[in-house]
Amino acid sequence: MLKIGICGYGTVGQSLVDHVLSYNKKIRSNVSSDFTIARIADRSIDKKEYPKDTIVTKDPLDLPADSNIDIIIELLGGIDLPYKIITESIRNKKHIITANKALIAEHGDEIFQLAKENNVYFGFEASVAGAIPIINTINKNMANENIISLVGIINGTCNYILDQMASCDMSFDDALSSAKELGYAEADPTFDINGMDAAHKISILSSLVYKIKSPLKKTYIQGIENITSMDIKFASELGYCIKHVGISRKVDESIECMAHPVLIEKENIFSNVGGVMNALMVKGDRFGTSMLYGNGAGGKATASAVISNLVDAINFATGVDISSIHISNNSASNNISIKNYNDISSPFYMRIYAEDISGVMAEITKILAKESISIEAVTQHEPADKNSLIPIVMITNSVSYLSVKNSIKKIENLEHVKESVFSIRVLKSDEK
Ligand code: HSE
Repeated sequence: MLKIGICGYGTVGQSLVDHVLSYNKKIRSNVSSDFTIARIADRSIDKKEYPKDTIVTKDPLDLPADSNIDIIIELLGGIDLPYKIITESIRNKKHIITANKALIAEHGDEIFQLAKENNVYFGFEASVAGAIPIINTINKNMANENIISLVGIINGTCNYILDQMASCDMSFDDALSSAKELGYAEADPTFDINGMDAAHKISILSSLVYKIKSPLKKTYIQGIENITSMDIKFASELGYCIKHVGISRKVDESIECMAHPVLIEKENIFSNVGGVMNALMVKGDRFGTSMLYGNGAGGKATASAVISNLVDAINFATGVDISSIHISNNSASNNISIKNYNDISSPFYMRIYAEDISGVMAEITKILAKESISIEAVTQHEPADKNSLIPIVMITNSVSYLSVKNSIKKIENLEHVKESVFSIRVLKSDEK
């Protein structure tokens, strides 16, 4: 009988226990050994229901030292405490499952190596895109050829907020409150809206696909906090919608890795990924293009991914299926550089607020011309009243981000331009 310990009993922990109890017969038919949830660490023991015969403890650090426990499921969040629990547990030869994307993005390379040295299972399917089996898919099904690119909507909260703003005319703040109430957002939603959560996820995927060290520190990160309803409306007038995406791709001899909002054409398949849904498009040089779509957040979806790892962990622990160990094989073995975002070229959306004075547009275009930026599309709106600023919105030709940044600095210095100039990259459907 294998004994499972769960660290953390919030939304995902409770969904996990409920899933295990409700689908016990089904899960047992997929595993090679009987198992039980022996111990749960819950820092806020309250009136929650715990499974019968399970020891409930307050201190999650009790679990790595518990010699009865064979498999630890870490669902705490944060980095330092989970790092301690996981590394201690691995040294004590316990198999590990975690949903902790921040931890994997920051310390994955070291933890994979430690798991390998101690011959324990290490599963982290739930760390990226909730119920979508992207990690298993790229580590197993897609591991036998070259991956050209991976693009995904991987933060459900951002997608939900942008979708609510576009389709229900909801304000950013109301959409964020609603995402929190529905349990999609992180305990601290700053990481969702500032792009860090998506950056953790794309860094994990990037390191798995290209066998590189976690590129988190070199990942370009932009959130959705400065996107206004006006941007969504202007983008729509120009034929685009706004999505927050993670992108990882190999171009020539370097890797591009970013988590940022983009304008995508309304015909692009990603524009139909609404609400909290996640979607990932992977391009391989043999299988072509595959797209995975599903629930990227929420207790039940995340717990479902944890259970798929639990089944693998049990079968690994009993020696029935040792293939999962290969997840950590060759990690970080490639030494490929990460491209600086300044050097990446693309069309850009720019939003400028200026006083309604003749000649402003001419001054702006002169600056753009000096940076060799041409305007592919432009829309200029009437001011709300005679004292308001006029929004000027344009799409540029394909230029480097450095040129865009340089021209923005100069435009912001113009006497009649007020407020910061805001830019978002445009992702064309025909890009790789
Ligand atoms: N806060 C995350 C999201 C949860 O919105 O995608 C899943 O990682």
